Amino acid sequence: MAASREQFGSRLGFVLAAAGSAVGIGNLVGFPVNAAKNGGGAFLLMYAIFVFTICVPVMMAELAAGRHSAKGPLGMYASLTNKHRGWAIAGWLSTITPFMIAVFYTVITVWIFEYLYNAITGDLRLLAEPGTFGEFISGGTIFVHLAIVLAIVNLILVGGVKEGIERSAKVLMPTLFLMLIGMVIFVLTRDNAMAGVEFYLIPDFSKITGPVVSGALGQAFFSLSLGMGILITYGSYMDKRSSIPGSAKMVALADTGVAFCAGLMILPAIFSFNPDTNPANLSDSSVSLIFTFLPKIFLALEASIGYTGASAVASVFFLLVFFAALTSLVSIIEVPAASLVDQKGYSRKKSLLVLNALMLVFTLACTASFGMVDWLTEFTRYAGAPKSLFDIVYDVFYDTILPLNGLLICLFVIYRWKKHNLDAELESGDEGFKGSLLERYMHFSLGTFIPFILAVIFINTVAIKFF
Ligand code: PHE
Repeated sequence: MAASREQFGSRLGFVLAAAGSAVGIGNLVGFPVNAAKNGGGAFLLMYAIFVFTICVPVMMAELAAGRHSAKGPLGMYASLTNKHRGWAIAGWLSTITPFMIAVFYTVITVWIFEYLYNAITGDLRLLAEPGTFGEFISGGTIFVHLAIVLAIVNLILVGGVKEGIERSAKVLMPTLFLMLIGMVIFVLTRDNAMAGVEFYLIPDFSKITGPVVSGALGQAFFSLSLGMGILITYGSYMDKRSSIPGSAKMVALADTGVAFCAGLMILPAIFSFNPDTNPANLSDSSVSLIFTFLPKIFLALEASIGYTGASAVASVFFLLVFFAALTSLVSIIEVPAASLVDQKGYSRKKSLLVLNALMLVFTLACTASFGMVDWLTEFTRYAGAPKSLFDIVYDVFYDTILPLNGLLICLFVIYRWKKHNLDAELESGDEGFKGSLLERYMHFSLGTFIPFILAVIFINTVAIKFF
C-alpha cells in the first residue's frame, strides 16, 4: 500500500540520510590513499568526472525506480515487471548482496568500535603496538562489541524511516562534517603538513593506467552506495515533490566533498605527525591503514601535545569513522528489512528480529574465520590461495556483484521499464528536467556506455578474482 508507506520528512533529511549511506570507510581512508598513490590531482579529476558522468545517472535511475514502485528492490523488480521471473533474479541479487555486505561491514564496524573504545579509555599505546589488531580480531571482547554495535544499529532502525534513519542522520552527519573540518584544520596547521598536501594533490598523469582508471570507477561506484539496493529503498521513501536529480547531485557532492577533505586530513597527518614516513610504505588496504598504521601516526603526536592530546585526536578520528560506518550500516540493513516488510507483510520489528538472527549467525561465522575456527578460516581455495569465509563474502559480493547489480538496473530502467516512465518519475518534483540536456544524457548513457563499462568491470573482476 503505497499510501501508508513511511516517507522522509524533508528533502534535507533525505539528502543527509543518503549521504550518510554514501559516506563511509571508503571515503575516509580508502579514497585518500588511493588518490595520493595513483596520480594525486589527476586521480581526483578523473574520479570527479566518473562521479558526475556515470554514478549520478545510475543513482537517479535507482531512486526513480524505487520511488515509483514504493518498494525495496525485491518488490520493485516484481511490481514494475509484472512478476517477471528473470527480473526477479535481479531483485534477489539486490537484496542478498546488501545483506552479505552488511555482514562484512558489521565485522569492520565492530573493529572500529573496539579501537574507538580503546582510544577513549587511554589505550592508544596498546593500539599502536604491532600484533594488537590480530589479538583484537580474534579476542573475546569482540563479541561484546558486536552486541553493542548491533544494538545501536537496531535502535536506529526500529524507529523507522523518519524517527530512526532520518533523525539519526540529522545528528550524526553534521557532527561528522564538523569533526572532519576540525581535524583538517588541526592537521593543516601542524609543521610539515604541506608535504602531505603536495603528495596528495600534485597531479601526475603518467600514473593513470588502465587498472587505476577501473579502480577509480569502482571506488566511485561503491562510495555512492550504488548497486546495493540502498537507493532503490531510500527512493521508495521519497515524496513525489522532491527533486530526484537535485537530491542526487547534492548527495554526490557531499560524498565527494567528504572524500576530498579526508585526503586533507589523512595525508598531511601522516607526513606531519611522523615526518620519517616513507609514502612508498603506505598500504592500499583501508583495513591495515586504519588499524595498524594510523594508531602509530597518532601516537607520534605524543611528542608535541602529550599522551592525552594524542589520545584525544585519535578518539575524534575513530569516532568520525565510527559515525560514518554506522550510517552506512543502517542504510544497508534497511534494504533486506524493507524487503521483508514489503514482500512478507512482516512488521518492522519482526523483520528486524529475523534479520538480526540471520546476521548474528553470519557475522559470528565471519568473525570466527579470522583464525578462531579452522574450517572457516580456510573455507575454500581459489585463484591459487586459501580463502576464509570473510574473504569470500568480500570477493563475491563487495567486489563482483556490485557492478553486476549496477548493470542490471541500467538495462532495466531503459529497456524494460522504458524511458518515458523513467522520465515521468524524474520530472515529478523537478519541472526543469523535462527536455533538459541531463534528460537526454540520461537516456544515452544509461542505455549505452554505462552498462557496457559496468559489464567490462564485472567480467574483468571475475577473471582476476577467481581464476
Ligand atoms: N559508501 C560506503 C563507503 O564508502 C559503502 C557502503 C555503503 C558500504 C553502505 C556498506 C553500506 O564505505
